Amino acid sequence: MAKPKTQFVCQNCGTVHNRWAGKCDGCGEWNTIVEEDPMGGIGSGPGKVPKKGRAVALTTLSGETEHAPRVHTGISELDRATGGGFVRGSAVLIGGDPGIGKSTLLMQAAAALARQGHKIIYVSGEEAVAQVRLRAQRLDAADTDVLLAAETNVEDILATIAEGKRPDLVIIDSIQTLWSDTADAAPGTVTQVRTGVQAMIRFAKQTGAAMVLVGHVTKEGQIAGPRVVEHMVDAVLYFEGDRGHHYRILRTVKNRFGPTDEIGVFEMSDKGLREVTNPSELFLGERNSKSPGAAVFAGMEGTRPVLVEVQALVAPTSLGTPRRAVVGWDSSRLSMILAVLEAHCGVRLGQHDVYLNVAGGYRISEPAADLAVASALVSSLANVPLPADFVYFGEISLSGAVRPVSQTAQRLKEAEKLGFAGAMLPASSAEMPKGGNGRWTKIEDLPDLVSRIAGSSKKLGKGSEDD
Ligand code: TYD
Ligand code: MG
Repeated sequence: MAKPKTQFVCQNCGTVHNRWAGKCDGCGEWNTIVEEDPMGGIGSGPGKVPKKGRAVALTTLSGETEHAPRVHTGISELDRATGGGFVRGSAVLIGGDPGIGKSTLLMQAAAALARQGHKIIYVSGEEAVAQVRLRAQRLDAADTDVLLAAETNVEDILATIAEGKRPDLVIIDSIQTLWSDTADAAPGTVTQVRTGVQAMIRFAKQTGAAMVLVGHVTKEGQIAGPRVVEHMVDAVLYFEGDRGHHYRILRTVKNRFGPTDEIGVFEMSDKGLREVTNPSELFLGERNSKSPGAAVFAGMEGTRPVLVEVQALVAPTSLGTPRRAVVGWDSSRLSMILAVLEAHCGVRLGQHDVYLNVAGGYRISEPAADLAVASALVSSLANVPLPADFVYFGEISLSGAVRPVSQTAQRLKEAEKLGFAGAMLPASSAEMPKGGNGRWTKIEDLPDLVSRIAGSSKKLGKGSEDD
């Protein structure tokens, strides 16, 4: 057989090129193309000799199935994010920035499962056994029967985990360290990572063990290189959080066996990750409700309501072009709200710097936060504190109308539970909660909101003709 030509693979998106180039045509990234041996990688097998195909028995859609058997960790925030525990015979990818707490979370899960009598194998490719032991001691997990190995070679790992009784859960920390003899590429390349992950998934499917793969994310928000791994696994979870804050969110991005809009919330402590069963209390913890510019947004994360404070500071500028700074929200969305305030409510902001912050380092992605943001902005500009026991939600359209959002009842129920007596919400909200004694103020449009908050237009610098 003639020696195949080498190929050039983009380490970012996996596109194959015939010759080297500085820029990848597939994803537009620079300096990501690396020479690799095409015979390595998925399906090549150790022999490298194409074998004759064998017919497999075809079957029908109906028939005996096991109901996705799961391994419950008992850590309810983790079980919630995975959709009820790890599924046997499936592979889960847990991605996140280095140092965010992936190894900590998985060590805690491993210890919890081992205490229930499951056979758990933890393969660490990044840390030596002594380091993993130290962490386990810190997490009070050292007395459990978690089996530990520090290994990076795929064939050795497979031989190790295949030995003896079938493991219930195997943790590979991390996929970036995996390397296989069958792939001729350098460790850390897409080919190596893909080959390693493929082998681990095959093991999970064959034996019925649950496989948890840890992957690091680069600054651009992608798992270094193997974005290509996402489609191979059954579920993808991201562990996110702000280094400056203690809380961490486990977010489901893909799940073949459960919902994808769930989150699990944790807090990093000196004894590992602590579950946060009521995230709203965490985000509202250090609230100073008397100062102007703070509005509580009643948001939703999947099926769970989350209350979080939106803070705005509007101050006269000394610059030619006023500053607009946003943390935890979309900056183009802020520009839109500012434009609607100017165009439809006569609020002049051209001579003001605007700063917007979401408390606790939390990130809001819902457009339903528009009304809370607008309220915080108007409150800061008018220097009028908002009522401390009110929550705000609703989407604002370019015409200034306040549009209804989904799950009104859940949002209001959560607000009531946490002691909020009132809410400002879209006028056309359909599903209001039954019973309760909340003061629900329905807002028709943005001018309506502005006049309710600021009252006299003088405070907003509209000019004397409006008085
Ligand atoms: P780690 O799980 O090693 O992160 P990853 O595997 O995602 O790279 O977590 C590392 C960070 O967590 C480190 O900065 C120290 C901190 N940490 C605690 O604050 N408390 C703890 O009990 C542990 C084990 C770690
Ligand atoms: Mg780690």
